[in-house]
Parts: sequence; structure tokens; C-alpha cells
Amino acid sequence: MNYFFITGSSKGLGKALTELLLENENNTVYGMARSSSISHKRYFHTVIDLSKLDNVVSYPFPTLENVEKIVLINNAGMVGDVNRIGQLDNQKIIDCYNLNLITPAVLINNFISLYTNYSCNKLVLNISSGAGRAPIDGWNVYCSTKAGIDMFSQVLKEEAQIDGTGIKILSLAPGIIDTDMQVQIREANKNEFSNIENFIEYKKNGDLSNPKTTAKQVLRFIEEEELLTNVICSVRDLTE
Ligand SMILES: NC(=O)c1ccc[n+]([C@@H]2O[C@H](COP(=O)([O-])OP(=O)(O)OC[C@H]3O[C@@H](n4cnc5c(N)ncnc54)[C@H](OP(=O)(O)O)[C@@H]3O)[C@@H](O)[C@H]2O)c1
Repeated sequence: MNYFFITGSSKGLGKALTELLLENENNTVYGMARSSSISHKRYFHTVIDLSKLDNVVSYPFPTLENVEKIVLINNAGMVGDVNRIGQLDNQKIIDCYNLNLITPAVLINNFISLYTNYSCNKLVLNISSGAGRAPIDGWNVYCSTKAGIDMFSQVLKEEAQIDGTGIKILSLAPGIIDTDMQVQIREANKNEFSNIENFIEYKKNGDLSNPKTTAKQVLRFIEEEELLTNVICSVRDLTE
């Protein structure tokens, strides 16, 4: 059996990916989010606010049997306040760092601690963003959380190589997807985010990817050995 732990499985990319994973009868999925929208005999949901670190620290990764593969997918994320530094709500700064960066770090730490001695394939897949790889005004906190998860992933790979643990790690930018996150981005105004018009145009022109299409691309990174080479990666790396 393959076991998947995925955050943000109730909506958007996380929901589409969870539904895709459940199509394979060898997969069992443990999802986490504040709400639940999937009912399936191989799906186990934990209602959890992942911006509250006490909840995250005590998330009970289960002991597993007959394991071929274990995958942790840190997908839950928020763009946070789209605005200038100086105009941000401090609690939203804290929640965004917690959800996008500190929660994945804690979950990865506990995941590796528990499963490192399991003799099966292990993968940590962090959903990053192009916003972590180039600065975008109005998105300071979001950009820096995604840059942080990219570096956390690179250090984890170094450690896995030096220690010979065999754990694979990816920090994958999923492209621009038609989800609630994009709705929130389009609600900003030009003084808060100079590039707002382009994001309104992306939606009008049909440039946003359907979450199911992106989920299929993400699944390729999980399943195709040759796509596990570069930690910092993007669905745009796919050539076919
Ligand atoms: N959409 C894009 O264009 C885009 C581009 C680049 C990268 N990404 C990345 O892709 C990932 C998925 O984004 P998306 O567009 O699918 O977002 P989305 O549609 O807004 O979904 C976010 C998911 O995260 C969960 N979540 C949010 N806050 C949470 C909290 N405090 N505790 C627990 N779960 C929480 C939500 O569930 P609940 O509300 O039920 O808790 C939902 O399942 C994110 O990491 C995002 O940064 C997205």
C-alpha cells in the first residue's frame, strides 16, 4: 500500500490531487484541512487549523504496515494580505508564515523522525511557487515563505544524501491555477499590487490551469523517477 499525507485536501489543487490519488486502489490518503469535502473508504480526514502550531506539533502520524511508499505533500497555503509592508495585519503575517513555512517544517520533522527507518520509498513534496523565486510587490510574506520552503527542501536533500537515508524531496512550483487563491489575488487593488491587471487578464484569457490538469502534472513528479532529480522544480519543467 502507498500512504499519502496531504495538507489542504479540501479545496483547489489539494482536493484535485487527493481525488486523483484515490483512483489508484493501492493508495490510502490522510488529508488535513479546516473543512472536509471528500468521502472515500481509503480517505481519512483530520479537521485541523494548520496555522495553529500546537495542533501541528501534535498531528498524530500513524504507524503503518505493508508499506511500499510514504509521501508527505505540504500543499496547504495562503497568499495572506496582499499589500505593502507597513499596511499588513500582524496576525495575518504570523498565520501566513505558520501555514506556508513553519507547519511544513514541523510536519517534515515529525514525518522523518517516525518513518526514517521504514524500508520503503519516502518522498516529501512541498508545493512551492514561482513567487518564492522572484520578488513580487504586495506579496512579501507569501514570496518569503515560498523562498523559505525552497531552501528548507534543499537542505533536507543535502542531509538525505550525506546520511544515505534515501528520502526524496521536491519543492514544486505548480504554475497558475484557477482556485480560491487566485480569486483573493484579483481582489487586491493597484496600490497594493502593481501587477493586478495581469492577473485579471490571466483569468479573462483562460490562462489559469484547471486544478485537475495541474494535479495530473504533480502526480507525474510523484510517480516518475527521473522527475525526482532536481529539488527545485516546476510543472513548467515538463516537456510533454
Ligand atoms: N493557485 C495558484 O495559482 C497557485 C500558484 C502557485 C502556488 N500555489 C500553491 O498551491 C498550493 C495550493 O493552493 P490552492 O490554489 O489550491 O489554494 P486554495 O484553493 O485556496 O486551497 C487551499 C487549501 O489549503 C487549506 N488551508 C488554508 N488555510 C488553512 C489552515 N489554516 N489550516 C488548514 N488548512 C488550510 C484549505 O482548506 P480549508 O479552507 O478547508 O482549511 C484548502 O484546502 C498552495 O501552497 C499555494 O501556495 C498556488
